Amino acid sequence: MDSEKTKGVVVPLIEPRLERGGEALDRLAGDDPQNIGEAPSGPNVVDSFWLDELADALASTGWIECDLSFRLPAGLLGELKREVEILDKTEAMARAGIGRGSDLLKDRSVRRDKIVWMDGFSAPQAELFRFFDQVRDGLNRRLFLGLKRYEAHYSTYQSGDFYKRHVDSFQGRASRMISLVLYLNDDWGLEDGGELRIFDAKDHEAPVGLLRPETGRAAFFLSETVPHEVLPARRTRYSIACWFRQDEVPLPL
Ligand code: OGA
Ligand code: MN
Repeated sequence: MDSEKTKGVVVPLIEPRLERGGEALDRLAGDDPQNIGEAPSGPNVVDSFWLDELADALASTGWIECDLSFRLPAGLLGELKREVEILDKTEAMARAGIGRGSDLLKDRSVRRDKIVWMDGFSAPQAELFRFFDQVRDGLNRRLFLGLKRYEAHYSTYQSGDFYKRHVDSFQGRASRMISLVLYLNDDWGLEDGGELRIFDAKDHEAPVGLLRPETGRAAFFLSETVPHEVLPARRTRYSIACWFRQDEVPLPL
C-alpha cells in the first residue's frame, strides 16, 4: 500500500470561498422571479432502491460509478453546464489551491483546475442542492454517518490540466466523509483524456475505476480512503465536486 504517497501529497481542504460570480448569473436569470430565493419544491427524484445500492457500495468497496442523467430533474444538467460556461468567463472562477494558506506555485504541480464554490442561489443550483439534500438524508438513514451538510464547487480543467492522485480528507477528522463528482461534458471521446481514475480503498496502488467525464456520469466515494486522480484533459472539462460533511460549521454565506 502506498500510504506515503497518498497521505503525504494532497489534502485539498479548501477554505470555502463563496464567491457568487453573482452578476453574471443574475444576468443569466434575468428578472424571472423563479430564479430568486428558495429552492423550488418538486417531486422526490431520488428513489430508495438507488439509495440502497449507493449505501451498499460505499459500505463495501467504498465507491460507485453511476449515471445521474435520469435521477436529476430533466434539463438540469444542461442548465448547470450553461451556468459553469458563463462562470468560466468571469473572475469568480479562480485557481484552486490545496489546504489553507497554500502555495499556489507548488499547488500547480498537483492540481491545475479552476473552481468556483456553489451557493445554491441560482435556480439550477437550488435544484441540485435539493438532490444533495435527499442523498445526504438517504445516506444518513442507511449508514448512520451523521452527515450535517455539504459543500460543492464547479471545476474547470483546460486542455493540459490535471489533478494528481489524492484523497479528499484527512483520516479521522470526520469532516469530509463522502465525495461526489458529477460531469458536464457532451460527446467526451477517448482522445479527450481527462478521465477520473479511482484507486482501491485498501490497496492504493490498484486502479479500480476509470470514468469518462461525460454529462451525467458521476462517482461517489469515501473521502478519507479512496485515492483518485484526474488525468490530463485534452479539451475544456467541466465537473461539479461535492463533499458531504459530518461537521457543523456553518457556511459563511
Ligand atoms: C476534486 C476532484 C475530480 C474531478 O476536486 O477533489 O478530485 O473529476 N475532482 O473533477
Ligand atoms: Mn478529489
